[in-house]
Amino acid sequence: MARRILLIIGGGIAAYKSLDLIRRLRERGHGVRVVLTRAAQEFITPLAAGALSNDRVFTDLFDLDDEREIGHIRLSRETDLIVVAPATADLLAKLATGQAGDLATAVLLASDKPVLVAPAMNPRMWQHPATRRNLRQLAADGVHFIGPNSGEMAERGEAGPGRMSEPTEIAEAVDRLLAGGTARALAEGPLSGRHVLVTSGPTHEPIDPVRYIANRSSGKQGHAIATAAAALGARVTLVSGPVALPDPEGVTTIAVTTAAQMLEAVRAALPADVAVFAAAVADWRVAMAPDQKLKKAQGTAPAPLVLTENPDILKTIAVPGPKRPALVIGFAAETENVVAHAQKKRKDKGADWIVANDVSPATGTFGGDRNTVHLVTAEEAENWPTQSKDEVARRIVLRAAHFLAANQTDV
Ligand code: C5P
Repeated sequence: MARRILLIIGGGIAAYKSLDLIRRLRERGHGVRVVLTRAAQEFITPLAAGALSNDRVFTDLFDLDDEREIGHIRLSRETDLIVVAPATADLLAKLATGQAGDLATAVLLASDKPVLVAPAMNPRMWQHPATRRNLRQLAADGVHFIGPNSGEMAERGEAGPGRMSEPTEIAEAVDRLLAGGTARALAEGPLSGRHVLVTSGPTHEPIDPVRYIANRSSGKQGHAIATAAAALGARVTLVSGPVALPDPEGVTTIAVTTAAQMLEAVRAALPADVAVFAAAVADWRVAMAPDQKLKKAQGTAPAPLVLTENPDILKTIAVPGPKRPALVIGFAAETENVVAHAQKKRKDKGADWIVANDVSPATGTFGGDRNTVHLVTAEEAENWPTQSKDEVARRIVLRAAHFLAANQTDV
């Protein structure tokens, strides 16, 4: 169905692709009205945009003629969807902070219509924490994203995420959105296209068919990590031991009981870009758990429990090889010398990072909702403030997203 699109073209080299976008949108029967920022006019002219849109092009908030004829309020209302392409780091920052100093930003602020942005910028700008912060804000405000793609940049020798999506991709996203497509389908978070594998909860190791060895892990931190990764657009597999928590939404949850089952499920879920081992896996299991319930026998001593070591799932998966996730994160629950123990554990296990937490009883970490952690990497140990397990989870997955963006280009 033909609809009215307001296309805001920002100032980047990708602006030339937006001329083609006007054509692609019109081919699909949509009416296109164009706003050019001042910076966009350094790359393309209002004349070219007007010729392709077959309409006048708007450039200036303070143009008396423009305001008399069709002001920025009308511009923002007389449309079904606003598309910002290319959305520069500057435009995204202004939109995220509600600025309205020029026509493009004033239109965006005055609008209650859906907004689709197609970011385009240098990979370093895309990965900058300030841009990440703005993206999170915009996603929370309900803005829809398409791209960016990865590849060569216009600057020589620069490659990575930051290329604006192709005009046909943007036009397809426009139609999906106009057809009532969900924001989720379009929301391109910083982990979209990535597979994140998380283990969570305790394991139960049978002593006999009715008894087991367990620990006090609630699974709250691991489940929060799975939820946070999904919120950033990742495909998430959560392998969980027995917990009293609901399966997180938008996550594939695989329920297991023992460490052996957990290892098997983790192996089956590979390959993954990131693996977070938050489960409290039992170190030992009963060597030969009988099929029948152990019985008390009058006058005889209880049978000793002979234990054998469980596989170390983290250590097994962290071994270098083609299936090793690009980022392997382990946890270390400690009650003293937290950072020193975690640094040693990081090396012993072959993990890239260890999230070390103080679980001394006074901290209330086990089963509680808050956590005091240290992020131990090869380079440093960061002390994070005490915060909710949800916030710890969000910070871990954001750091993982930064790591992937900085170390790989196949976003
Ligand atoms: O050795 P420790 O149990 O303190 O190590 C904790 C880290 O190792 C956690 O990330 C935990 O999920 C992981 N681990 C594992 N398999 C085991 C034991 C621990 O994946 N058998």
